[in-house]
Amino acid sequence: MAYETIIVEVEDHVATIKLNRPDALNALNSQLMRELSDALRDADGNEKVRCIILTGSAKAFAAGADIKEMSDKSFVDMFLSDYFGKEHDAVTRVRKPIIAAVAGYALGGGCELAMMCDFIIAADNAKFGQPEINLGVVAGIGGTQRLTRFVGKSKAMDMHLTGRFMDAEEAERSGLVSRVVPAKQLMAEAEAAANKIAEKSRMTAMAVKESVNRAFETTMSEGILFERRMFHAMFATEDQNEGMEAFLEKRTAQFRDK
Ligand code: HXC
Repeated sequence: MAYETIIVEVEDHVATIKLNRPDALNALNSQLMRELSDALRDADGNEKVRCIILTGSAKAFAAGADIKEMSDKSFVDMFLSDYFGKEHDAVTRVRKPIIAAVAGYALGGGCELAMMCDFIIAADNAKFGQPEINLGVVAGIGGTQRLTRFVGKSKAMDMHLTGRFMDAEEAERSGLVSRVVPAKQLMAEAEAAANKIAEKSRMTAMAVKESVNRAFETTMSEGILFERRMFHAMFATEDQNEGMEAFLEKRTAQFRDK
């Protein structure tokens, strides 16, 4: 499909979606969010794809929702269109693993989009922030909820109330990102992680994603029960048999998604 605001490449088993509005530091407008939703749905439905990377440019993952597009909207416009609501839900409905590879600015909606992914690998020049307060608004696609779960109340309040940016080192220390790498190595690191995930059973990877995400949606005992049932269910798959047999035979498992 031809997109104007994103670039999609599928190589081996990894789909890479690059946000591409360089003149606006990849600000998220309605067209980009629509195209991103479509591309993610396609990648999720593409049998060949086993992992997705979402990235931006060297200067910006995304500098937030597009302020030019939003500036003259009214409450009624935002409410009736449920601004970015459908697109938020589309990103979070993707069942395959998504890695955010973040260089430069990930601000406002950009930080929120990165947090919707399954984990974040950051370049050492990455800067995260929720500066919506400077515009007289609050975060709108999960920033108050997800950042708080990642970094705790004190730091989340600090970020949202002062609008300050967090560098990559602080983001890693706070649990917002899983790894920090030199900027030049960002894509190689993300691709290596994606290829590693692509070697696993697709079902198991999806079950991991569903199980970890349960931790954000339910109580500890319900989450652990969900996990245990998922663990039991894996014993109905050939991939469980293959994984365990391969270990015992001291060879690499060949998963077949069965
Ligand atoms: C529209 C943006 C933009 C944005 C940058 N640009 N961020 N356009 N929306 N969010 C544009 C600038 O207008 C400028 O265009 C070009 O990108 C380069 O930006 P500069 O400001 O000149 O670059 P620089 O001086 O390097 O500063 C980088 C920056 C700054 C610190 C990232 O651009 C910035 O503060 N941007 C806004 C960040 C922000 O407030 N984000 C939250 C948005 S609200 P021109 O045409 O002048 O060259 C949000 C709500 C989410 O995200 C809720 C969703 C429902």
